[in-house]
Amino acid sequence: MTTSTPSPADDQSTATEPVIFAAPDITDDDLVAVTEVLRSGWITTGSECLALEAELAGYLDIPHVVAMSSCTAALETAVAYLDLPAGSTIGVPTWTFVSSALCAVHHGLKPVLLDVDPDTLNLAPDALARAIDEGLDAVIGVHFAGVALAPEVHTVCADAGIPFIEDAAHALGTRDHRGRVAGQGTAGACFSFYATKNLTSGEGGALTTDDDDLAAFARSFRLHGLSRDAWARYRPDGEAAYDVLAPGIKGNLPDVLAALARSQFQRFEQMQALRRTLVQRYRANLADIEGLRFVPGELDEGSADHLMVVLLPEGTHRPRVVERMRDLGVSTSVHFQPLHRFHWFQQHAQVGPGGTPVAESVMFQALSLPLHTNLTVGDVDRASAALLEALGRS
Ligand SMILES: Cc1ncc(COP(=O)(O)O)c(C=O)c1O
Repeated sequence: MTTSTPSPADDQSTATEPVIFAAPDITDDDLVAVTEVLRSGWITTGSECLALEAELAGYLDIPHVVAMSSCTAALETAVAYLDLPAGSTIGVPTWTFVSSALCAVHHGLKPVLLDVDPDTLNLAPDALARAIDEGLDAVIGVHFAGVALAPEVHTVCADAGIPFIEDAAHALGTRDHRGRVAGQGTAGACFSFYATKNLTSGEGGALTTDDDDLAAFARSFRLHGLSRDAWARYRPDGEAAYDVLAPGIKGNLPDVLAALARSQFQRFEQMQALRRTLVQRYRANLADIEGLRFVPGELDEGSADHLMVVLLPEGTHRPRVVERMRDLGVSTSVHFQPLHRFHWFQQHAQVGPGGTPVAESVMFQALSLPLHTNLTVGDVDRASAALLEALGRS
């Protein structure tokens, strides 16, 4: 635990401390904020949640933020709102976390797994266009690692008149051609506040939109489809009666967690600036490794810098690199194992026209290096040196 987000210059790491892949940055202020809610007499969804929604709406410049228990719950809600007939198809990049596709499966839709752009590993507009030509009913795109989807993805969906949901799990603070990613003109953006995300409430998320009807649906759907939530029913002036408007989910965000998110949000820009410093340091440290590529190749100014992903030189045995780095005290991760390689998806999903050659070509090469705001520049130097040694280039 830190008492404040560390300055990168304030490097107190030692060569013996492990460099952890991801760790929540929890300050004393966070503890106070959560404790106040625990003592307040109201710990489930209420005023903290409403305040978080208002703060995020201001930051994202979007009329509606609906806080949720997870990004997955937000995605489920966005898909439910589309109300597509069972068996409808939904395009999803194969390079993502499973919940980007399973949220649609739970509503009877059939995922069509699409290839990605070799530079960003984001949904490839040409692969999407070909799948749409063959018939797609909706699309879920992912702003992978915090880098915005290409504007062409929006255009292709708009031209075809099909709804497009943004999986923005990695993208709080990401900028694209519209400003900060917030679901402007799409079928909603879904954010995650999971433990490893740039802003965390432990578990949590939000659906953001400029569509009044989607927002009203989401407010009800996140709480079983009830017409009135507990905050509206149990307040002194509250109305106790409620109706059921849709077969919703239990997906609301409790105030205990909303308070943690709000406290983190107060220093979000500071945390983002530190992430950028760390990413730039990695890029400088690793620039000369022959055959190693960054994702994306050049730093994207609009990125939220959620993950530091590299593609190891061709022919590298990734498990050996991971093991050697672990021995040197540096933990890593892999984002992602493509969905089309998983047993269940092989049986129940289809792959888009043209297959997934890009995902296939990089899936054993991708490696995510430690990136979080408890790290210092010295930690990044150690992680970089460990990678060099593991590759035999030190
Ligand atoms: C791309 C992507 N989408 C969705 C999710 C699900 O987020 P949550 O755990 O908040 O449901 C994740 C989780 O890490 C993710 O990486």
